[in-house]
Amino acid sequence: MKAYVWSLPTRVFHMMFAAFIAAAILSGDEDSLLNIHASLGYAIGVLVVYRIVWGFAGPRYSRFSDFPLSLKELKEFMLNIFDHKKYAGHNPAASFVMVTMLIVVFLTVATGILAYGIQEGRGILGFLNSPYFKEMKLFKEIHEFFSTFLMILIAAHLGGVAFDRLIDKKTDTLGSIVNGHKNIDAPSVTLNLFQKLFSFFALTLAAGVLFYSLFFNSVLTKSTHKEISYEKEHSAFVAECASCHTLYPPHLLSRASWEKVMNSLDDHFGDDASLDEQTRVSIRDYLMKNSAESSTKESAFYILNSLKKSEDIIAVTQTPYWKHRHKSIDKNIFSSKEIKSKANCKACHSDIERGLIEDSNIKIPKIGV
Ligand code: HEC
Ligand code: HEC
Repeated sequence: MKAYVWSLPTRVFHMMFAAFIAAAILSGDEDSLLNIHASLGYAIGVLVVYRIVWGFAGPRYSRFSDFPLSLKELKEFMLNIFDHKKYAGHNPAASFVMVTMLIVVFLTVATGILAYGIQEGRGILGFLNSPYFKEMKLFKEIHEFFSTFLMILIAAHLGGVAFDRLIDKKTDTLGSIVNGHKNIDAPSVTLNLFQKLFSFFALTLAAGVLFYSLFFNSVLTKSTHKEISYEKEHSAFVAECASCHTLYPPHLLSRASWEKVMNSLDDHFGDDASLDEQTRVSIRDYLMKNSAESSTKESAFYILNSLKKSEDIIAVTQTPYWKHRHKSIDKNIFSSKEIKSKANCKACHSDIERGLIEDSNIKIPKIGV
């Protein structure tokens, strides 16, 4: 006997869900892929909401009320694991994993969007950066906690499927993921028009959100941090401080550091960068006014934390934060003839002289050998 258990929308959902989550996990650790990671997050968010609605309005087997979610049944199932009762839909162990997984995915997406907004000032919650940036670390950690929890659930899910394959090949649960059929004596599912239309709309929306978020600079990924024209804000700063090196945005050092830099220009990292007194004071005041203390940007926040511990630092590249963020980069890259110095930020951060250090604009240039 064959039964049609997983309808087409359920299977398409499952494939998109698995693929998007796998891609999100792979892109999660790489800063330069953050926009892709966030775009996947939105799409997964649409999928998880769809699946929750499907759990109430979907067909037999996919409805939560059809999940054998009782501890008694779970116990019985686990005690007779090698010769358990056959379930056409999910077995009790799988049901618990699925429901937990949906909740955890929902929380991972929600906290991801929160962290994206609070830390990066990006996305639909980007407006939360300004009031809550001091909590950026906390929200990032909460998001990481849920994503780790999710990976454990995925491992349990895959383990369950593999185990089932070993002890009960006949039912062909694995094949049902692709073709929807299980070799079991049970009624088949049929979908009504509403279920078909709703699924078509929701799954297309998930794919559309991913596409839109990836390829259009929209409210989904846009930053609340604007480009700054230092030329307009303070032309002497640009004229005097970008002639020998990258124009360092004021938010990359503290008030105290800038004061020190600007009070010792005659011996400036081995160079004489002296200015007439009026220009010096004007640039100094501008730098101190726009220092890390006055910024809600991620880099400013962490540099300031870094500087609290070692107040004598007057170079961005000497802050523990900078060192930490660049520790994976080979020393030979910095000393290569294309880059020359770690202080040459603009070689890798094309937007830094416009006041931004966006993850998506980080690019290490190719160096010759
Ligand atoms: C005559 C050339 C010259 C001028 C003009 C100059 N600098 Fe520098 N600056 C240097 C050199 C050389 C270094 C060391 C760079 C290195 O480590 O490769 C440096 C380093 C720095 C650093 C530390 C960079 C790091 O490693 O994180 C800061 C901050 C800085 N300069 C600020 C300024 C400011 C502000 C002005 C304008 C008032 C300015 N500089 C003008 C030559 C100059
Ligand atoms: C050789 C290329 C290179 C140079 C030069 C360089 N960086 Fe970076 N920077 C990177 C890379 C790559 C990353 C991302 C590292 C990672 O994935 O964690 C990064 C990350 C950062 C970050 C964290 C970005 C974020 O929002 O997560 C900041 C801030 C930063 N750099 C500032 C600077 C400053 C300031 C300078 C110059 C004083 C500089 N960098 C010089 C390559 C470079």
